[in-house]
Amino acid sequence: MTQKLTIIRPDDWHVHLRDGDMLKAIVGYTARQFARAIVMPNLTVPVTTTAIAQNYRNRILAAVPEDLKLEPLMTCYLTDRTDAGDIRRGFDDGIYTAGKFYPANVTTNSAHGVADIRNIYSALDSMQDIGMPLLVHGEVTDAGIDIFDREAMFIECILKRVIADFPDLKIVFEHITTRDAADFIMESGPNIAATITPHHLEFNRNTIFQGGIRPHYYCLPIAKREIHRLVLRQAATSGSSKFFLGTDSAPHTVGAKESSCGCAGLFNASCALQSYLKTFEEEGALDRFEAFASLNGPKFYNLPVNKEKITLEKSGDTIPNTIPVSDTYIVPFHAGETLAWKLDTSINV
Ligand code: NCD
Ligand code: ZN
Repeated sequence: MTQKLTIIRPDDWHVHLRDGDMLKAIVGYTARQFARAIVMPNLTVPVTTTAIAQNYRNRILAAVPEDLKLEPLMTCYLTDRTDAGDIRRGFDDGIYTAGKFYPANVTTNSAHGVADIRNIYSALDSMQDIGMPLLVHGEVTDAGIDIFDREAMFIECILKRVIADFPDLKIVFEHITTRDAADFIMESGPNIAATITPHHLEFNRNTIFQGGIRPHYYCLPIAKREIHRLVLRQAATSGSSKFFLGTDSAPHTVGAKESSCGCAGLFNASCALQSYLKTFEEEGALDRFEAFASLNGPKFYNLPVNKEKITLEKSGDTIPNTIPVSDTYIVPFHAGETLAWKLDTSINV
């Protein structure tokens, strides 16, 4: 049985690093595991211009603990008023790596999102032209659509149209949660890919209601039926280069989660690789983990593969019960549990 795994250092292709005290409290967890991170732009004041992105990038770099490093890859929050010229300059100058499409009000801090996809068509035109990937939060927002159907509906109502209108646009369907999305990705051309989170591989919607309501398992897109989880596990471990790692680690303080109207999002940066490896081992696919974690993402984004390596070993890793943030704390994914795999931080090959 494999006890040790040395792989090229992975990247996280979807993470929420937040800002201020929260950023300072959590960024080290991402830097410990990953070389680069695609940073989500949904701050309270969203990252909608290159100037905002540059300043945010500097705050992230300043918050990374001295003994660690992380390369933040910045994304632009697309809005009804996005300036296609700013997008183009931001990408050409290396400030932006991708543009993020949140349908308006779909999730945390998305009130500034796009009301109608046609409002960002000139931005999409530029992005297609310069090869800048579009990252999509793939859920429709119509309150009349069942929350468990919103991802599948997004494919029919929006994604197919965008692909038809911009056939050469690179698109990442983020944090997919359904068989519909996994099948759609497999059937699409090479410029359409998807990220899969560690948590959607581990639990289904029953977990959210096991013995009561468990707010720390609530995230968006919400976990679906077991059949969807099983298909996601197949997709992630299939060896297909269309699927890659994106944690969607999205911290909220305990008060914001354990509330009569709790926020969506779970913090998994303290156990992301451990959690993914649990799934890959259970699926007998440890030999395919490096491609999912470290090769498929850079290939899609046209970026070099990292030079550094990391080692994980099966020595057991107890995840903390809480992660302190100023005078409060976060309850992380797998809080207080011991996972089999552990990142060996003493070895950097
Ligand atoms: C994210 C957040 O809290 O910013 N929440 C989540 O449940 N994933 C937003 C998002 O990615 O939807
Ligand atoms: Zn997210």
